[in-house]
Amino acid sequence: MHPMLNIAIKAARKAGSVINRASLELEQIRVTSKQTNDFVTEVDHAAEQAIIATLREAYPDHAILAEESGASGDSEYVWIIDPLDGTTNFLHGFPQYAVSIGLQHRGQMSQAVVFDVVHNDLFTASRGRGAFLNDRRIRVSNRPFLRDALIGTGFPYREFSRIDRYLELFKAFAQGSAGIRRPGAASLDLAYVACGRLDGFFEMGLAPWDMAAGSLLVLEAGGLVGDFKGDETYLECGDIVCGNPKVFAQMIATISNRA
Ligand code: IPD
Ligand code: CA
Ligand code: CA
Repeated sequence: MHPMLNIAIKAARKAGSVINRASLELEQIRVTSKQTNDFVTEVDHAAEQAIIATLREAYPDHAILAEESGASGDSEYVWIIDPLDGTTNFLHGFPQYAVSIGLQHRGQMSQAVVFDVVHNDLFTASRGRGAFLNDRRIRVSNRPFLRDALIGTGFPYREFSRIDRYLELFKAFAQGSAGIRRPGAASLDLAYVACGRLDGFFEMGLAPWDMAAGSLLVLEAGGLVGDFKGDETYLECGDIVCGNPKVFAQMIATISNRA
């Protein structure tokens, strides 16, 4: 295993312990609101600190981009961290949330960990070496048609400037697929595409830490990832589509038909 992936796994497991411990006493958790429907808890902060301490100990010169503490350092290696993806689920005891840690090297994703702390499922990938769920190699599904596909998404819930556009796409996919799911943690949605539980996924307005690790999982599992035009700007623009190669192409066509 790549040594940097090994350190990322160690960091994710430490954050997972912080989160699992806190989940036993949900009503004790102090919550603050960053903006409407955007909650952050002391657990998000504690998990992030655990991750950063582990990464810094091993790689003191690497840069970091973390959801709660922001950007620091200047390096060709950048760790992109979401310490608790799915905070709303976590706060409600809805068992779908994860730790997401990705490493970018010279602008390309090179290592990825998405850790489903509830189910103790560890999704990992290293560039060029495939994607894994625990010790098992994973692949995207081979379902060829969008009309038979199960599609994941995320609904807008705190920023509504493009909700009409979203609903238009939602309608198209609701009518054109076998079903839509909104599990509530984008990093896990991407991991689910990587292991074939979902055939495709789309969401608007995500942050880089929601997508960084998960996007490498999908690519290394043989899937495709793009922005709404199918191009590579998703980490910058926040709009993402991914899926197995056949479903991905039909999703991009569906979106561009409604541009
Ligand atoms: C959120 C989750 C959710 C997605 C949101 C994200 P957070 O992350 O990934 O599924 O719809 O856009 O912000 O805030 O729980 O880390
Ligand atoms: Ca997130
Ligand atoms: Ca988060």
